Formats: sequence, C-alpha cells, structure tokens
Amino acid sequence: IIQRVYAREVLDSRGKPTVEAEVHLSGGAMGSAIVPSGASTGSAEACELRDEDPAYYDGQGTLLAVKNVNHLLGPAIVGMRAEEQMSLDERLIEIDGTPNKSQLGANAILAVSLAAAQAAAVAWQVPLFRYLNGHYNTVAQKLSRGSFVSVAPRMPLPMTNMISGGKHAGGNLDFQDILVMPHAASHYAVGLEWIVRIYRRLGTLLNRAGYEGYLVGDEGGYGPRLPGNREAVEFVVRAIELAGLKPGEQVSIAIDVAASHFYRDGAYQLAAEQGKKLTSSEMVDRLEQWMNAFPITSIEDGLAEEDWNGWQELTKRLGGRAHIVGDDLFATNPQRINKGRDLQAANAVLIKMNQIGTLSETLEAVALTKRAGFAAVVSARSGESEDTFMSDLAVAVAADRIKIGSIARSERLAKYNRLLRIGEMLR
Ligand code: PGA
Ligand code: ZN
Repeated sequence: IIQRVYAREVLDSRGKPTVEAEVHLSGGAMGSAIVPSGASTGSAEACELRDEDPAYYDGQGTLLAVKNVNHLLGPAIVGMRAEEQMSLDERLIEIDGTPNKSQLGANAILAVSLAAAQAAAVAWQVPLFRYLNGHYNTVAQKLSRGSFVSVAPRMPLPMTNMISGGKHAGGNLDFQDILVMPHAASHYAVGLEWIVRIYRRLGTLLNRAGYEGYLVGDEGGYGPRLPGNREAVEFVVRAIELAGLKPGEQVSIAIDVAASHFYRDGAYQLAAEQGKKLTSSEMVDRLEQWMNAFPITSIEDGLAEEDWNGWQELTKRLGGRAHIVGDDLFATNPQRINKGRDLQAANAVLIKMNQIGTLSETLEAVALTKRAGFAAVVSARSGESEDTFMSDLAVAVAADRIKIGSIARSERLAKYNRLLRIGEMLR
C-alpha cells in the first residue's frame, strides 16, 4: 500500500532541472525514479512542465512539477496498491485531465508512475525487469485479439552513438546520430567490447585527420566539424575496420536523421550542403544511395514528423532492407502507432517513456508496436540521469534494440552497466 509520495528537483546530464519522485510503501519498501528530457523533441510528445521563471535556472526550473507531485498526484494515489499500475496510471491521467499531460506535467506524472513500479518490485523482492515483464504481458494480452503468446525477458541489441550532429552537437552536421550495432556479437558483453573498441579507433581516426576526436555531444558521441553528413558515415565505417571488425557482416550502421528539425517550408534543407533543398522523394533517393554505399540497416526519422505520405514511400522503397524507425513520427503515442500501422508508414517504433508520460501507456505502445509486426527500440533521451529504468524496460518487453547514446558519460554507462548485470541474471 502506498503510504507517501515525495518529489524533489535534481539535475540531468545537461545540468538542467528535472523531477525525481519517491514512492514509499507501508511495508517499508521504497522506489524512486528520475525523468529524462529531450532536445530534439517531437511536437506530438507529452508536455513537460517548466517553471518559466527567468530568474531561476533560466526558466527551466521544475518546482511547479515537484509541487504537483507533492500536493496533487501523490495524495491522489496514497492508499492504492503499488502493483495496480494500470489503475494508478489512470488516476494520474485523470487528475491531469489533458490529452498531453500539460496541466500537471508529464515530468511530474512519469516520475510517480515509474517510482511506484520500482517500489513494488522492491517490495516483491524481484529484479525490476522481471516485475515489468509481468505487467507487460498483462497489457499485451488485454490488447491482443485472440491468440496471445507471452514474451520472456530478453537482452536487446544495443545501437550506440558514434558521431553526433543536429541539435545534440551545435548543428555541426544536419543528421543527428551515426550509430553502430554489433549484430553478430554472440552476446551483449561481447558486443559492448566491440563498441568501445570502435569508439576508441574512431577518436584516433578523427584526431589524425585534424578533427576533434575528443569533443563530445550531449550523448557522448564525437561532435567533429566535418565537411558533410556523408563523411561522418565514412569515418564510422573506417573505425569499424580499424577495430578489426567487418562492416556489414559483424557490425552494421544506423542513422538518426531527425529530419523534422531541418524540414522548413515544405523542404528538407541541408545546412551542411549550403542550404540545398530536397523534396521528400529526393530525401528518400538520398537515403537509398547511402544504403547502397554503406552497411546501413536502420534509418530513424528519415523524414519529418507530419510527412506521412513520404514515410509511406520511404517504407515501400527501403523497408525490405532496413528498419524504418519512427521517433518524432510516433512519439510513443498509441494512436499514432496505430495510424502508422494502417498506413504502413514505418516498420519500427522508437519507445521513449517520457514522450507519452506513464508506464502503462508505454507498455501499451510496445504491445501495439509488436501487434503491428513492427520492431521496438527502447530509447534514452539526450538529457538523462543515473536512473536505469529504461534498461529493465527494454529487457522486460523483449525489445529488439536499445538506444542509450554513446559509451562515454556516466548517465549512459549506468544503463549499459545495468544491462551487464541483467545479462548475468538471465544466464
Ligand atoms: P532527444 O534525442 O532526446 O533530444 O529527442 C534522441 C533522439 O532523437 O532519438
Ligand atoms: Zn530520434
């Protein structure tokens, strides 16, 4: 039984305020959670509440959200059972009363939702991923029409950021991330060693070529001032080779284009190419050329968040050869995921808990993703913390992939390390 809920303001990996909540149960168990925050946010995301007081953290304070937990959300769930995640989340959504959680703040609501699950897992004395796995299967069964097969916890394939651009690294490149996936590694720990080796070799290559192989972006990926987007992919391919690994055969490449953020006045405007304007079809041509030239097997946000027709074309043309991943496109929103399935406008969904704002809705989003036959990629935000809930989530729902950022900076490593521990428990 939930006895007390308490929130405080803490700082995220960019030194920006965020919300931490604690849920205390009658038996003495306690769970806590810190919510993350994005920079290249999609417009369909749930709203985080910020104080907007310019004299306090430049308007970025979260004291109002903290107050909403301590005075409204917390008291409303005191007396409920922490295991009743769905009723609990429904209650939180009801008190807020808006479709995008803008009244009390998705940051306030999510912190409470996650802390409650954490507290229940502690009370039951089971690892969080096992606890969440039970909930996931319950949600998935409810949504399934007819036959239902429950999923067992499973380690996801990491996709790790190597070079950052866009809003995560001062706009050096148009494309936001170039990532690697050690898809042929026999298990997670082996893949992690490959990733670190590639990252180090990439630093050496960048330095040798006169770029900044030590300056990193928000997620720990290198942020070099390269002449163009294509050079970034070329560097990563060479780093894979220098690490003694085979591009394509052992390690493949993923890109997060984050195209919503350079789509203006109906065109994709590439700053790295003197403002060259591409139509939606020309962007797809460009991505196809890249896929032919490089071992790319995953393209995230290759087009802008409302360019649904373009997404259909992209999926039709490249979906047979790669994951076409919707991040800003879906915003972890069940309705948008269903629309994507109806239109066949992607074949994979990026899952970020704070885009939707409660644990139950996140689990629903994953279940709908799988029911559509799409792949699920559990993802961090560019603003993170030492909280590792997402690692447990990815294993609990048997996500295909996990996207944490790079293997530098401890808010990222906390999550990679949590997966090492979970891997031991699954062995
Ligand atoms: P964000 O970036 O957290 O800044 O939105 C992550 C991503 O685009 O995948
Ligand atoms: Zn993205």
